[in-house]
Amino acid sequence: MHIHVLGSGAGGGFPQWNCNCYNCDGLRKGTINATKRTQSSICVSSDGVNWVLFNASPDVLQQIQDFPPLQPGRAIRDTGIQAVVLIDAQIDHTTGLFMLREGLVKREIYCTDAVYGDLTSGNQILNILGHYCGINHHHVPIDGETSFTIPNVPNLKFTTVSLKSAAPPYSPHRNNPQPGDTIGVLIEEISTGKKCWYSPGLAEIEPHLPVLMNQADCIMVDGTFWTDTEMIDLGLMTKTARSIGHNPQSGPNGMIEDLDKFGDVRKVLIHINNTNPILREDSAERAILNAHKIEVAYDGMDIIL
Ligand code: MLT
Ligand code: MN
Ligand code: ZN
Repeated sequence: MHIHVLGSGAGGGFPQWNCNCYNCDGLRKGTINATKRTQSSICVSSDGVNWVLFNASPDVLQQIQDFPPLQPGRAIRDTGIQAVVLIDAQIDHTTGLFMLREGLVKREIYCTDAVYGDLTSGNQILNILGHYCGINHHHVPIDGETSFTIPNVPNLKFTTVSLKSAAPPYSPHRNNPQPGDTIGVLIEEISTGKKCWYSPGLAEIEPHLPVLMNQADCIMVDGTFWTDTEMIDLGLMTKTARSIGHNPQSGPNGMIEDLDKFGDVRKVLIHINNTNPILREDSAERAILNAHKIEVAYDGMDIIL
């Protein structure tokens, strides 16, 4: 199984267009040891030809250009992307669908009923696509037991489960969480049994998740913030990391503590906010991650299981 990180940044990317935090300013000026990141997305394939896109970021056009297997060039209109699975209805995970509107072939969109509701009401992107390529909507289960396959994507199987994060600010359930607002997915390569867990939005590893996460050879989880008060401390927001759906890495019940409970498998943080000190490769915070054998995803990262 080939997992390719298209975008490892959180909403806004790195550097963020209007941000002059220490990291964004330092990246622009070349004064910190860090690399730019586009917004949150991965693609996965078993045969290297047919890919599933997980989330469609606003940067998707650049991400496709930077990863040639997504444009195999077999016909006048072509793509290696056979389907799009949406983890949630957040702007950074869905806006790229607007950029994928061309063509006569409908986009195959896999999402939960809660996400479908948000993307056909508060944010009408799936309705609007009906005036361009059109979509086929596939309902995604949230019980963590029912697996599904995707036509034209050979040898991969998906098990999706509802988990605690947060619906987007425009959603009527932003402060009233609904099952399926956010999911995690266990991606399995059928022939080898290799598995990857992917949950770029994750506020807490609730008791129903380890049964799936423990099966994974690679765990990719929410790496948005280092501390719960990161945005408050910088005067950028009044809300904590956890309250907007992101478990911070440090501190009691943080992501480092949580990941330490899993065995000797690859552990990768993804969806990293531009304020997070782990983006600086020589930071003390990055050294702590290294000591815990936790990797930080970067754009273009390939994970072969
Ligand atoms: C999030 O992950 O909390 C959101 O994507 C933030 C945003 O919309 O930029
Ligand atoms: Mn996000
Ligand atoms: Zn910044």
